[in-house]
Amino acid sequence: MKNAHLGALEVSRIGLGAMTMAGTYTSEGGLDNAESIRTVHRALDLGVTHIDTAEIYGPFLSEELVGEAIKGRRDQVRIATKFGLVSHAGGGPGVADSSAANVKAAVEGSLKRLGTDHIDLYYQHRVDRDTPIEETAAAVADLIAQGKVLHFGLSEASPETIRRAHAVQPVTALQTEYSLWTRDVEAEILPLLRELGIGFVPYSPLGHGLLTGRIRTVDDFADDDWRTTNPRFTGENFRRNLAIVDEVTAIGAEIGATPAQTALAWILTRGDDIAPIPGTRRVARVEENTAADAVELTPAQIERLDTLRPAAGARHDDANMASIDR
Ligand SMILES: NC(=O)c1ccc[n+]([C@@H]2O[C@H](COP(=O)([O-])OP(=O)(O)OC[C@H]3O[C@@H](n4cnc5c(N)ncnc54)[C@H](OP(=O)(O)O)[C@@H]3O)[C@@H](O)[C@H]2O)c1
Repeated sequence: MKNAHLGALEVSRIGLGAMTMAGTYTSEGGLDNAESIRTVHRALDLGVTHIDTAEIYGPFLSEELVGEAIKGRRDQVRIATKFGLVSHAGGGPGVADSSAANVKAAVEGSLKRLGTDHIDLYYQHRVDRDTPIEETAAAVADLIAQGKVLHFGLSEASPETIRRAHAVQPVTALQTEYSLWTRDVEAEILPLLRELGIGFVPYSPLGHGLLTGRIRTVDDFADDDWRTTNPRFTGENFRRNLAIVDEVTAIGAEIGATPAQTALAWILTRGDDIAPIPGTRRVARVEENTAADAVELTPAQIERLDTLRPAAGARHDDANMASIDR
């Protein structure tokens, strides 16, 4: 597995997102913690050295599973987790709080659940409108000084927030949605990251599963599935977005790659400062996704993927978009 460079942090260029292990999209069919742990083990065996989780996933379950899975193998992997969407001052899960006091409280829980004395990459999950980013960045700088955290990350932060945070504590990576059907970051964010020497971690690189080609109808989604409220998975938008998947599938078929591998291989062509974290809780899928490291697209195929029609529908519903710093 080749590596990507997120600032001074080197990680496998394909990582593993551990969000769905906690049932974040849907808990339909029950969760299989043993399979989730096997998935992490298989990822490590395949050379993945970058695992992404967050205290809000579950809440806490995803970190617990990752902690269990990396027992005895901590040195093989860089662990990224996130704070700021659980208020430890009484608000609980889902309440944004990136105050210095909350960051200080959150890190202790994450370290314990992950079974480690340091977090390699500690992200603010969402920008907190009630806390100046300078306060949050200074709190993370304290954790870095104490050795509890090695690198600072931001998620879904605007250019202005990135600059302000970076001035207080250098930012190693920004994590934001990016894939064949979500390319907003290309205009302003990616050039800024390159100017500042900050790495980029695309989340939902498989379009929440749609770009794998395995979702052909939304009628099969469970009622509690988060995607039923996502504009791209509803009505006419969904039907139009299937045409994007069909094109990705056709291009992949030319080189014997699955649609998921094709979508990931395209991201890998964007630069060695970009490290996508496809999410799965299943061994077979981590094997499929990780194999994208060896997929070579031709220049003509890259061009066709580059010029796919834009996705129909906003990338999040209104409530989720409102929590994003712009
Ligand atoms: N910073 C943020 O705000 C933020 C937001 C969202 C996600 N993330 C991070 O990014 C990671 C990835 O994003 P994501 O999970 O939202 O979306 P994703 O990686 O685009 O897609 C994951 C979905 O696709 C399915 N899947 C994965 N590989 C597959 C394959 N080869 N074939 C068929 N289906 C496949 C997964 O199902 P199973 O899991 O059931 O296998 C899951 O439902 C998360 O795990 C999380 O760590 C961060």
